[in-house]
Amino acid sequence: MDLKNAAFTNIFNIASAQNKTLVDLHWFTLVICAAIGFVVAGLLITVIAKFRTPENDDGTEPKQTSGNVRLEIIWTSIPLLIVTVLGVLTAVVMITVNPPVGTKKPDVIVVGHQWWWEYQYPKFAVTTANELFLPVGQNSLIEVRSADVVHAFWVVAFGQKMDAIPGHPTNMWIHPTKKGLFLGTCSEYCGAQHGLMRIIAKVVSQEEFDAWIKAQSAMPAASDDAAAAHGKELFNSATCVQCHRIAGDAVAQARIGPDLTHIAQRKTLGAGLLENTTDNLAKWIQNPQQFKPGMYMPNMRLTDKEAHDVAVYLESLK
Ligand code: CUA
Repeated sequence: MDLKNAAFTNIFNIASAQNKTLVDLHWFTLVICAAIGFVVAGLLITVIAKFRTPENDDGTEPKQTSGNVRLEIIWTSIPLLIVTVLGVLTAVVMITVNPPVGTKKPDVIVVGHQWWWEYQYPKFAVTTANELFLPVGQNSLIEVRSADVVHAFWVVAFGQKMDAIPGHPTNMWIHPTKKGLFLGTCSEYCGAQHGLMRIIAKVVSQEEFDAWIKAQSAMPAASDDAAAAHGKELFNSATCVQCHRIAGDAVAQARIGPDLTHIAQRKTLGAGLLENTTDNLAKWIQNPQQFKPGMYMPNMRLTDKEAHDVAVYLESLK
């Protein structure tokens, strides 16, 4: 997965119906503000040029004026009109972008954690981490939560930013209009590794989405080769199971760290930090602190062989 090529920081890359509305308002506001800028700058330059002190200035004061009701009405009413128009349009856009939720259940629950993202699909009892899948052409209701501090969920091409506030779920609608990979990032400072809390959103066709849900719902089939079996034994006897969940596993049912049920299906590790390979996962397991200092996953002091075997086990969870 080439994260560098994905349309990342360009807010004008419109990939959702919501962002289309937002970008339209953005352009309209920009044109009005540019027009005001030109008028003000033009008047300023004219005044400077026309009324500068002449060479033969004799020192007499220019004619003094005090108060001009007509002018004051004009320069109060024009800005008032502009601000009113922009205010009304903003309200209209807000209503369009975020229609009321009513009794609708969320399609996805996004949970911000220090420093990764959890994605729950409550209708399908699927939980995954760091890679969000959405079907194209559907308006999905996203509920945003936080497990610890304030984060903000922002996929640039979807337009809207939404705060993840502990104890106070927020909602947003995302109606993707384009298939593809779209990136985002946590956009509220949430601690040392705030910068490494990337969002990877994949918009796929309805069929691909259904297939993905099906794959995510299936029980993972761990390989039974010796390294994987050893890795599983270590995983279940070390403290890994205090934080992680693997569906169908009797021991690993914690939900503090990312759900690892189908970790092998993900393209990246550590919230978009590393490519998901057995080698990278082994390095991560051996010392996650070298990649994200201060994160909650400790260095478990595994040997190279042990870390490798745990990685082999996890990478067999397809
Ligand atoms: Cu999470 Cu910043």
